Amino acid sequence: MIGDLLAQADYCKTVSPLYAALFETLAGFARAHADGQTDPALTGFFETLDRCWEGRTFNAFFERPLLLAGAIHEQVLLGKAPELARHYPSCGGHFDARDQSGFAQALKATLAARHRAMVPFLRQPAIQTNETARGMVWLLPLLAHWHKAGQPPLTLIELGCSAGLGLIADQYGYQISRPGMPDWHQPGAPSFALELHGPGAGQAGETLRSMPELRAAIRHRIGCDLNPIDCADATQRRRLEALIWPDNVPRLQRLRAAIKTQNQGALRLETGDMVDCARRLSRESGLDTPLVCLFNTVATCYLDEDHYARLRQAVAQAFHGPWAGKTCLWIEFELPRRDEAVPDFADGKEQLIKLHKPDGQGGLRTRYFGAAAAHPRIITVF
Ligand SMILES: C[S@@+](CC[C@H](N)C(=O)[O-])C[C@H]1O[C@@H](n2cnc3c(N)ncnc32)[C@H](O)[C@@H]1O
Repeated sequence: MIGDLLAQADYCKTVSPLYAALFETLAGFARAHADGQTDPALTGFFETLDRCWEGRTFNAFFERPLLLAGAIHEQVLLGKAPELARHYPSCGGHFDARDQSGFAQALKATLAARHRAMVPFLRQPAIQTNETARGMVWLLPLLAHWHKAGQPPLTLIELGCSAGLGLIADQYGYQISRPGMPDWHQPGAPSFALELHGPGAGQAGETLRSMPELRAAIRHRIGCDLNPIDCADATQRRRLEALIWPDNVPRLQRLRAAIKTQNQGALRLETGDMVDCARRLSRESGLDTPLVCLFNTVATCYLDEDHYARLRQAVAQAFHGPWAGKTCLWIEFELPRRDEAVPDFADGKEQLIKLHKPDGQGGLRTRYFGAAAAHPRIITVF
């Protein structure tokens, strides 16, 4: 665990000074513990950690550090760690890297007093977040195809939706700069400033003015996830907040604003694997719209090659079978898969916006719409 904490501290140096200090301090505590010199105040904390994670394997180096950091942040958000809250911008505090000993004391006091209360958070099976800034990456290709199809009523299905905050991205606020055109502005909360670049940016930018009509045409919004998060539940909502880094206050504010917006509308979230979900929904008679759009953002990257092949097959079968009479579209915002031939115009490091449509022969025809970073500010339209 010491190595994982130090690796995460190193990663955080440029992105989160608070978490760089947190992980370094925790690594110091863990090293003393490994050397048989545990601070008596931390004995209970290390016993709790051992009990919580006994027999559990962690695949990625960041899992343990981030679970631990989230469990601590949850206590701060709950108001149960006032000494640490002083250092946490998410709770109105201020982090000063020069006050290393004050920070270490506050952390130690929190771990000593709150380790038992941290157990449910530490036992969570996965670190699950929901980035609200990914809406435009599927809205732009959808708008283009919805226009071509004559603007019919439609069903939206998000695979790997987490808390379902992506499913209402058409209702958020935007300030979008487009080449050769005035900025496009939509009021709403949260609000995102984005730039469109690339050869297709002008055309894609044109379609934005139909956003209100698109919103009115959406009949069903359905999300599926192995573990859907219900933002109406205070504990689940707080866990989502706790996984946002405490010195990234704008992201926390965006999450809270998105949750408020989500509360105003109807959304259906289902539990299960996305392959089963695609199969099941395609057989559902109530989804009677002429257009169906499936999408996923940073979710199929968690599927191995065999699992992803089964998903492609399930989607292709749905498009050629139960949904054959409809306009069908599957939009992905994902990193290139292993062995995927990345298009010439992409640099291979960004997430690709991929469009799959039925090829008429039982399979899928894939085209690349664009690319962006995982937390997009610029979208390149090919
Ligand atoms: C990194 S999160 C992304 C969530 C959301 N799409 C976003 O962009 O913020 C990945 C999500 O995929 C879900 N997931 C992973 N494998 C899945 C599967 N086989 N079936 C359904 N959901 C899955 C996880 O539970 C998690 O909520």
